Amino acid sequence: MDTMRAMHIPLDHPLLQRIVDDLAEKGWSQQNGFLPQALTLELAAECRKRAAEGELAPAAVGRGPAQEIREGIRGDHIQWLEEDDAAVCGTYMALMDSLRLAMNRDLFLGLEDFESHFALYPPGSFYLRHLDRFRDDDRRTVSAVVYLNDAWLPEQGGQLRMYLKDGVEYDVVPTGGCLVVFLSGEVPHEVMPATRERLSLTGWFRRRGNEPF
Ligand code: OGA
Ligand code: MN
Repeated sequence: MDTMRAMHIPLDHPLLQRIVDDLAEKGWSQQNGFLPQALTLELAAECRKRAAEGELAPAAVGRGPAQEIREGIRGDHIQWLEEDDAAVCGTYMALMDSLRLAMNRDLFLGLEDFESHFALYPPGSFYLRHLDRFRDDDRRTVSAVVYLNDAWLPEQGGQLRMYLKDGVEYDVVPTGGCLVVFLSGEVPHEVMPATRERLSLTGWFRRRGNEPF
């Protein structure tokens, strides 16, 4: 049996409880060391392998037919996760599913599914300030980013800059294993350029919504 795949966290685990409490209190949470180091390394290797095989593509801005590639807005390269991905991706999905259930249990968010992609920001690339919720599709409710970078130094840039209430700006250093979650429709944020390649898994917990056709 694939033991990694079975890695759910009990819903009353203090780690999940902290995230849920943070979300209720302030709308976002940062948990350093959320991913075990071995898993972080494996996911980073998987992301680099896909990049080397040419599977990552420039990310688009917008949704549906209005999508376009605009490197002046975002310069990352991405690949969406699929059902039949490598086992290591299943482990990550199982962890995120535990988080989804904990949020539903305690915050009544009614989160139905989770979509996510690997993201690779080449040196110098960035993602300008934005909200993760589309104008015509309000299903994205909670954003979750886990970083896959070994030994990141603050002076290498690449911070996630969140624009919080009362003009407060908060920077997250994209250190491997760190998880950041925030309310997709409420926290504007930006990815600052870095001097080295920046890897992450970014995803969105979605509730049922008014998806247009
Ligand atoms: C995104 C995003 C943040 C990050 O992909 O929408 O804002 O820190 N990512 O990578
Ligand atoms: Mn975003």
